[in-house]
Amino acid sequence: MSSSSGQSDSSYDLSFKILLIGDSGVGKSSLVVSFFSNSAKNLPPTIGVDFKIKQLTVGEKRLKLTVWDTAGQEKFRTMTSSYYRGAQGIILVYDVTQRETFRNLSDVWAKESDLYSTNQACVKMLVGNKIDKVSERAVSKEEGIELAKELGSLFIECSAKTGENVEQCFKELALKIMEVPSLVEGGVPKKGNIVKPKEDPSPDPPGKGPKPDPRSACCY
Ligand code: GTP
Repeated sequence: MSSSSGQSDSSYDLSFKILLIGDSGVGKSSLVVSFFSNSAKNLPPTIGVDFKIKQLTVGEKRLKLTVWDTAGQEKFRTMTSSYYRGAQGIILVYDVTQRETFRNLSDVWAKESDLYSTNQACVKMLVGNKIDKVSERAVSKEEGIELAKELGSLFIECSAKTGENVEQCFKELALKIMEVPSLVEGGVPKKGNIVKPKEDPSPDPPGKGPKPDPRSACCY
């Protein structure tokens, strides 16, 4: 495991742990690099897990974001479970040019995050990456929005290569986390490994803030 800090850790109002998951090669590391340096270059595959810390201001709050980038490779999957612990936000990344990576989000990654995330109200963000590869697109924006609704997550499409919507992705997620009192206060642990239902037609629980509306985070 390696770590690096983009900025000094001096003062902040809130601290959030954000996790990136998804198949190998979808661009998780590139999104992190783009967010931290506004440029994404060719990167070696992540070995196990890596994290970076960034401070940013959202609204009037100074936030400390610890962004965990897990390897999408199968051989590292078993060690990722412990990294879900305490995460307030989970970014589920797929490659809009690779349909299998989209399928695997619902078949594999969403289930795994439901199983291992320890914060009951953890906010999820579905991210379709590589939209700069326009002619190779295999998954439509509408399909992404539909899946986000099913998963009860936010949704955004972006490009780590051009930087389009990358900062917006992290800011939208942080904003939504800030709306959930239990997450701001440090997170309410789940009782056991409860797999949440795909769709919950009940109204927002008191004190938990509004359920994420996938459309609210779309930026085109
Ligand atoms: P693992 O570490 O194996 O889990 O992969 P990863 O999900 O972190 O993917 P990574 O960031 O290493 O990117 C994989 C490849 O996709 C690299 O060659 C990147 O340059 C490329 N890539 C990432 N994001 C984009 C993007 O938005 N557009 C384009 N065109 N290429 C991208």
